Amino acid sequence: MHAIGIDIGGTKIAGAVVDESGTVIAEERVATVAGESDAVIDAVVDMVTSLSSGRDIIAAGVAAPGFIDSEQSTVYYTPNIAWRNEPLKERLAARLGIEITIDNDANAAGWAEYRFGAGRGFSDMTMLTIGTGVGGAVVSHGSLFRGGFGAAGELGHMRVVPEGLPCGCGARGCIEQYGSGRALLRMAGEIADVGGVGLALAEARRQHGELTGTIVGELIAAGDPGALHALEQLGHWLGQACASLSPILDPHVFVFGGGVSVSGDLLLDPVKESFRQHVPARGYRPEPEFRIAELVNDAGMVGAADLARLHATAR
Ligand code: BGC
Ligand code: NA
Ligand code: ZN
Repeated sequence: MHAIGIDIGGTKIAGAVVDESGTVIAEERVATVAGESDAVIDAVVDMVTSLSSGRDIIAAGVAAPGFIDSEQSTVYYTPNIAWRNEPLKERLAARLGIEITIDNDANAAGWAEYRFGAGRGFSDMTMLTIGTGVGGAVVSHGSLFRGGFGAAGELGHMRVVPEGLPCGCGARGCIEQYGSGRALLRMAGEIADVGGVGLALAEARRQHGELTGTIVGELIAAGDPGALHALEQLGHWLGQACASLSPILDPHVFVFGGGVSVSGDLLLDPVKESFRQHVPARGYRPEPEFRIAELVNDAGMVGAADLARLHATAR
């Protein structure tokens, strides 16, 4: 039985028809205008309508980048788009004749990796998605951990620096400000300001007016020392975060997804190094594995579809 998965991101909405084995059968993508929440809802409605036309679809899952309630219907808060207590499920269900489930984007991605990707075969997995923000998912004993009010697994808002940089969530010092794609750009900019290893970054910034994820990603892939240094700083912060999460969640494996994870071992090496440096009881307890996500861009859609299917068949 096929289900639809929709992944709402900061810059685009991606949707897919997905089968029981996590395979994408059909796919669509549109750009979103930042901050326009009504336009986002229109786009999701259009996408579900067009993906379901002529197909037998059991349910649709919608993954959104924010704190979601335990009914999985209201988005309490999105740090990087303008939703506050948005009754997303109700608004979508009013316009679509199909069962809708709402989930956090990183929960959806983490679920997809647990079921079909890098977390397959482990009962306990912690996922971090490194994109515009830092998302989190906790799979514990084979199920997605949602907490008491639904919004557990918001690992990006774990405080790593007391009174540190302000975050879109309203707090300060969250790992999102030190371990996200945006943080990588800030660090790359700081390295460019200093000169030295930052020369190529400074030159790219001069040429293009600003540093973007694509530019920094290309410099990383080309082995530029300044860009690599920024990635290493990012990895060190993320490794510390994992060292703090490990005594709480004790996962078998940490999986890294999101755009920045395409850097592979260049990201994982500094993560592991700082994890080992900071993890409590080091050397006296089993160490988790560190892996890169396998479904990368598809994870949110595939996970949202799978969770929606499970939800629909459980009733
Ligand atoms: C949000 C999360 C989301 C993550 C990735 C964070 O800022 O709080 O809900 O999963 O960004 O989009
Ligand atoms: Na989450
Ligand atoms: Zn925060």
